Amino acid sequence: MNYFKHHRLTHGDKMDSNYSICKIPTLSQVVGDLDTFFKVKELEKDPAMSRFVPMAYKQTRQWKKIFEPDFLKRFNGLMIKGADEIRTVFTASFPHIEILQKFISQSREGDFIFLHHPIPLECGDPEGNLGRGFLPIDLLLLQKVVEKRLSIYSCHAPLDYNKKISTNRAIVEALKARIESEFLPYGNGYAGLIATINPISTDDLIVNLKKIFGIPYIDFAGKNVDRITKIGIVAGGGDEVVYSQTAKERGAQAYITGEIFSHYDSDWGKQNIAKLKKYAKTVDMSLIGVSHAASEFLVMKTQIPKFLKENFGLPIIPLAQKKWWV
Ligand SMILES: [Fe+2]
Repeated sequence: MNYFKHHRLTHGDKMDSNYSICKIPTLSQVVGDLDTFFKVKELEKDPAMSRFVPMAYKQTRQWKKIFEPDFLKRFNGLMIKGADEIRTVFTASFPHIEILQKFISQSREGDFIFLHHPIPLECGDPEGNLGRGFLPIDLLLLQKVVEKRLSIYSCHAPLDYNKKISTNRAIVEALKARIESEFLPYGNGYAGLIATINPISTDDLIVNLKKIFGIPYIDFAGKNVDRITKIGIVAGGGDEVVYSQTAKERGAQAYITGEIFSHYDSDWGKQNIAKLKKYAKTVDMSLIGVSHAASEFLVMKTQIPKFLKENFGLPIIPLAQKKWWV
């Protein structure tokens, strides 16, 4: 929906410095258009966040008073409702402390942040510490967001499976690949894509991926392949044997995801990593992890800013993490 085509001038309109008419969009317009585009109301409950958000907040009930009632049912959409006029939209993968600090200090009343995860996730560093998993948002920062009348909007599964703008489609676009099919049913769609790509070796593909995601190193397992023509993609947590097995069955020679192993400081993490390492020794394909957060930030840097700029003419500030492997 194009904001400029669909909204007539009303109070709040102003002239910009080039004397063309522009308008400050309201929160309800932006939220309405995002909900419609991502079909947020068609998903009763986010399959992942409906479990992880209550788990992360099990020590406190405070979040239930701060988050919007519809978010508490659906775990997608407007999470914190601020003032009505939005001048700048920020984007990020997760609400880590550094991200919210930047959002709070760089924003004005009414500004809006578009997140993929409604809570932070530490998924561990293959060359460093194990991750603590899902964490609650720092309560003091949440209070500052409320005091400054800022808004938080989070779109999880619908941003993974939307057929135009998605975490996976942003990766396909950056690699100049072509979508062949979908796999991995998730919510009202699919969380995995199979795509064809111009022939490339594992080494060259890794060089490209490091550049695309701005990461210092990747996590790698499996085999080096001289000529990759088909890839499987699962943005985020693709650390399940069956996901890369499905990609392999569909002809992929490389599997690209956020996490190929589960570097978590938990019993589940230890069990799953043992299973994945055993499998990786036998698999005849390249398994490449680019970090959970970076794999889900690309859409926030490319497709989402384009969508918001075209529809609302709003300035967009993507907030990248200092470190992706955390
Ligand atoms: Fe994720």
